[in-house]
Amino acid sequence: MSQVRKLVAGNWKMHGVASQLSEALLIAQSLAQTPAVCRVALCPPTTLIHRMSEVLGDAAVLVGAQDLHPEVKGAFTGDVSAHMLHDAGAQLVIIGHSERRAAYRESNDLIAAKVATALHVGLEPVICVGETREEREAGQAVLVVESQLAGSLPDVLDAAHFAIAYEPVWAIGSGATPTIAEIEAIHAAIRAHLVRRFANGASVPILYGGSVKPDNAAAIMQAREVGGALVGGASLTARDFLPIIRAAG
Ligand code: PGA
Repeated sequence: MSQVRKLVAGNWKMHGVASQLSEALLIAQSLAQTPAVCRVALCPPTTLIHRMSEVLGDAAVLVGAQDLHPEVKGAFTGDVSAHMLHDAGAQLVIIGHSERRAAYRESNDLIAAKVATALHVGLEPVICVGETREEREAGQAVLVVESQLAGSLPDVLDAAHFAIAYEPVWAIGSGATPTIAEIEAIHAAIRAHLVRRFANGASVPILYGGSVKPDNAAAIMQAREVGGALVGGASLTARDFLPIIRAAG
């Protein structure tokens, strides 16, 4: 696993207007001076994807989206298609984030359809899974994650370029994180699932997400089968995000 390049992706959620692009630039400047060992991505709100990709140019920072519509095109007022995101400069896309699974009742089937559409236009999907606090306390964490994987990873992922993000719902934005042993147990289960189903299952990066901060990033990145991080709050500023990127090296 250690030979696979880690991916550290920032999820800006519904934060950021044009003035915030200066943070992306600061990150890119630092990486130009001292290249990162890992791959780095920023997923801004849809309105900033195009401007961010223009501002970053050929900097070593991938630009990503946070969601997409499962249909390629059509009468879907207010929605954005995979092709539009790609056209705007996105190279990857977060799919099935727990905030969307919860607030928009996104099902595994819908997420699987979105993953297939992303692949169709050449966007790298970062597919999120993770248990709630109640599910963890009931001893169901592995079961829940396995059933999310079974339902939301379409077979067309075989040999495709994609990543999984394990994000326990209770760790997102809370400051709480699982222990390293708990992270390793879930990541091992995810790896076993990937290896069982996909030809490239051994090399798919499995990111950890949920309250990753500069002070816990190094320990998390060194955990077995952790192939990077999906970072929310701490990806909004270069000051917080850069040390996390460096910790992945
Ligand atoms: P957080 O969010 O780092 O702010 O906990 C992570 C995420 O939701 O992807």
